[in-house]
Amino acid sequence: MKIAFFDTKKYDVNSFERYASHNIEFKFFETRLSEDTVSLCQGYDVVCVFVNDVVNKTVIDDLCKYGVKLIALRCAGFNNVDIKHADGKITVVRVPAYSPYAVAEHAMAMLLTHVRNTHKAYIRTKGYNFSLNGLCGFDLHGKTVGVIGTGKIGRIFIDICRGFGMKVLAYDKFRKNDDDTEYTTLENLFKSSDIISLHCPLTEETYHMINENSMRTMKKGVVIVNTSRGALIDTEDLIEGIKTKKIGGACLDVYEEEADVFYEDYSSDIIDDDTLAILLSMPNVLITSHQAFLTEEALENIAKTTVDNIKEFFDTNKCENEVTV
Ligand code: NAI
Repeated sequence: MKIAFFDTKKYDVNSFERYASHNIEFKFFETRLSEDTVSLCQGYDVVCVFVNDVVNKTVIDDLCKYGVKLIALRCAGFNNVDIKHADGKITVVRVPAYSPYAVAEHAMAMLLTHVRNTHKAYIRTKGYNFSLNGLCGFDLHGKTVGVIGTGKIGRIFIDICRGFGMKVLAYDKFRKNDDDTEYTTLENLFKSSDIISLHCPLTEETYHMINENSMRTMKKGVVIVNTSRGALIDTEDLIEGIKTKKIGGACLDVYEEEADVFYEDYSSDIIDDDTLAILLSMPNVLITSHQAFLTEEALENIAKTTVDNIKEFFDTNKCENEVTV
């Protein structure tokens, strides 16, 4: 079985290599899968892709033409794959959970960094500047956090927030009735929260759910945390909200146009993205490069589940982790 990996980084190779055997052969491409690179898939049985690979109609048609039988996502989100077009043509599998703790803990790490200015303090003290001016934060204890999406990650984030003595309000379009979380309407969540953390998937419905209109209903100074998908937020509207001080801070592990820059080192280049440049220039915006998943435990689970998915599909012609329309 020949498997072509795209958008491969060193840590992917390290975690997957141990699963190579006489009947499973890996080829690690650094390039992303797209219409320009899909021809590399000729001769492979499986393509293994990540969050910013482009698996659109053309790519899917070419994969079918080359005889590729399986698209194995090594992530949970699948908004970068045209699932409707793949239906009936090629099977798509994913890793539904690899470490929800990794993502929830990163969301809290970003929030704590923002509210206590530890990122600024770190740089100051490295330069022998021990002044505290401008570093005053606020207590999380007693604040209201609004959690949108109470699936695997959202629920863990809620538990973490409770540990901090925060009041939790939640909204989930498909809420389950088996937990003691206080659910409310999206409108009330926006109106009542000091912090809003996004843990729902990107769909047509959730696209730009944080926008000028929803921000208008929020508390002045609200902090937005997004570890889900960039396009949940209208970035231009967010920038406007920060400029008018309606938004007190943004902790962003994901960004609408991240595919062009995230995961690469552009430290010696001029970035061709003015929106990102404005965000980076704002002292109350904290950006990480879609790294919430990046823990040893998560990488190990991703590799194991991906290989299990592939084996299950080729052994039984179906897979528990298949993504369906
Ligand atoms: P999950 O499927 O367990 O939970 C998602 C929740 O969102 C579900 O409870 C669902 O009912 C809810 N939901 C669906 N549509 C909604 C809507 N319109 N409004 C409100 N809630 C809605 O997913 P999980 O594992 O908790 O992941 C959440 C998101 O985190 C993923 O969709 C993915 O985009 C993102 N993610 C980000 C990572 C990172 O490294 N930054 C890593 C892994 C996931």
